[in-house]
Amino acid sequence: MTTVENRTPAELAEAERYTAHNYHPLPVVITEGEGAWVTDVDGRRYLDFLAGYSALNFGHRHPGLIAAAHAQLDRITLTSRAFVHDQFAEFCRSLAELCGKELVLPMNTGAEAVETAIKVARKWGYQVKGVPDGQAEIIVAADNFHGRTTTIVSFSTDPDAKADFGPYTPGFTIVPYGDEAALREAVTPNTVAVLMEPIQGEAGVLVPPAGYFAAVRALCDEHNVLLVADEIQSGLGRTGRTFAIEHEGVVPDMYVLGKALGGGIVPVSAVAANRDVLGVLKPGEHGSTFGGNPLACAVGGEVVRLLATGEFQRRSAELGEHLHARLNALIGHGVIAVRGRGLWAGVDIDPTLLTGRQACERLAERGVLAKDTHGSTIRLAPPLVVTAEEIDHAVDQLAALLRGDRGEAQ
Ligand SMILES: Cc1ncc(COP(=O)(O)O)c(C=O)c1O
Repeated sequence: MTTVENRTPAELAEAERYTAHNYHPLPVVITEGEGAWVTDVDGRRYLDFLAGYSALNFGHRHPGLIAAAHAQLDRITLTSRAFVHDQFAEFCRSLAELCGKELVLPMNTGAEAVETAIKVARKWGYQVKGVPDGQAEIIVAADNFHGRTTTIVSFSTDPDAKADFGPYTPGFTIVPYGDEAALREAVTPNTVAVLMEPIQGEAGVLVPPAGYFAAVRALCDEHNVLLVADEIQSGLGRTGRTFAIEHEGVVPDMYVLGKALGGGIVPVSAVAANRDVLGVLKPGEHGSTFGGNPLACAVGGEVVRLLATGEFQRRSAELGEHLHARLNALIGHGVIAVRGRGLWAGVDIDPTLLTGRQACERLAERGVLAKDTHGSTIRLAPPLVVTAEEIDHAVDQLAALLRGDRGEAQ
């Protein structure tokens, strides 16, 4: 394709000059997006197979979400929770219903929702379970990713996320993901919660062994422990169901939600649980200036309406089969393994060929945006509005670069 300008190098250099280097972005400077596509400042188009780490499940600028945001921008955007506004009750009711829970507590970022879940679980432990003061323990999985706060990185096993950010918050026990026996060993009378991702996203889209979460649920019931599912990346349609843990036939005590709940427009997160759990919080004990603001509730409410139709979960299930069939056919042709569910895949590239980073750079040159996780693994998570043809196009580009074909797609 003809590029009319070459603004990219200057934009990249300017961004480098003025920002902390806490990210290592691909050399693409995006200016517009629609559906599954984005356009860069030089007019190149890319299929977005990262979708904001699942924050863009409904694609860029979904018309219904944009309309809800516009309508709310013209009315009122922020009140603080010191007052109630007219978008609040409807958002909370509909989200609670979607989750099958009695109450929700809205926050903004995913990490804040995880922090909320930790605080609620601890308070529940002291007030309901009767754990001695200051002794609450939460069991988490190795290779987890739950966010970036000092408490959350305290139980990370990723040195990049954790090193030099101590002193660390105590009260967390780490067990191998998917290992039922190790979990059983780790439970003590002071255990208040098991906090896990139903599928570990950042770890490389790791799906636990069949039956694992059913065993976790049974263990939690046996020991009066809360099961907290971090569905921030895995939830809201990504895996072909509303929640990834549904594939395991399991209902957690608390859902932790974020990313797609904000429709790719505003940060919206929440925890959802029944009254016997979330009811432990009293006025003044937890909150957020922006949590549950009118704009967030208007957009989040529209997200819940979209999910309530089931259309996106269906698309993800059906197109996910197509994506996985196409990717599985690459095993032995530069791909070692493929994992995931629905429109979510972790793809292990043969490390003798390319690192994940190199694969993503070459994919970007071919007009497909994706993100590496660790080593030679890349993660594909297109918006749920993607079409079968767009999936074919993206997988064709991956296949071509693994074959070592030269040239760009456009
Ligand atoms: C499973 C999971 N939990 C929590 C988070 C943190 O969300 P945020 O970046 O919005 O704080 C993420 C982000 O990638 C995530 O994938």
